[in-house]
Amino acid sequence: MVLGSITEVRRMLDAHRAAGRSIGFVPTMGYLHAGHQSLMRASVVANDITAVSIFVNPLQFAAGEDLGSYPRDLARDTDRCADAGVDLIFAPSVEEMYPGPMATVVDVASVASPLEGAFRPEHFAGVATVVAKLFSIMGECRAYFGEKDWQQVAVVTRMAADLSMPVEVVPCPTMREPDGLAMSSRNVYLTPDERAEAPVLRRALDAGLAMIAEGETDPAMIEAVMTDTVATASLAALDYVAAVQADTLIADGPLHGEVRLLVAVRFGTARLIDNDGGMVPGTPA
Ligand code: PAF
Repeated sequence: MVLGSITEVRRMLDAHRAAGRSIGFVPTMGYLHAGHQSLMRASVVANDITAVSIFVNPLQFAAGEDLGSYPRDLARDTDRCADAGVDLIFAPSVEEMYPGPMATVVDVASVASPLEGAFRPEHFAGVATVVAKLFSIMGECRAYFGEKDWQQVAVVTRMAADLSMPVEVVPCPTMREPDGLAMSSRNVYLTPDERAEAPVLRRALDAGLAMIAEGETDPAMIEAVMTDTVATASLAALDYVAAVQADTLIADGPLHGEVRLLVAVRFGTARLIDNDGGMVPGTPA
């Protein structure tokens, strides 16, 4: 069932909760792929009712980004949701979500500032604001997010905790193509030559993870090797590589405990991000 009205979605989910049914929620911007379907399936297994939102959120795109060209196909998305066992699709119009200018902005300052926040300064305020609105519409639920957007997971987890939202954020593993490229709706922007080089993100992460497994704790050394790896792809323009603590997203000295490696690369009009994590052997968390 596809609904466009906030009131109707609230009424339907309230009725399910009143009948004792648990709700799982998967927020998306549509153009769904197997990565999204893995989130839906995780929700279907753990909850009585699964709702998916499909909304290309203008607030999280800066001027000159790909809001206008972002791929959209509601008919195909509806089929993919049905395949995954989704009960309800919320596909609102921009007017339904933002009937007028928004005076309220959710800013999860510390977590949102580095990395993606440095390259896309307005992005996470747009994400946090729409996710706060979606959480308010969905009500008490478990919400499923892909780890490909590691910093986004950190931002929405912190927001839900800080604002005491009745939502459990559930991170789910990144789904990959056979050659290691993380699945993303934006992969359709890649030309065949760019697509052939795009697995360089995975290779950069693997190079960094191998150093960590061997005991390297200097973030600069790891980032240098990751940068060199990205440079082997002639069509890749690097935005950043980072070797940071997994929880704070900064490196406050030698790496220790659980660490996260992140990479952002532009290929022509496509901007790809990826990340993976590991433990520094023999160091305290
Ligand atoms: O990850 C996304 O697709 C979007 O950032 C989200 C969480 C649906 C908010 O618009």
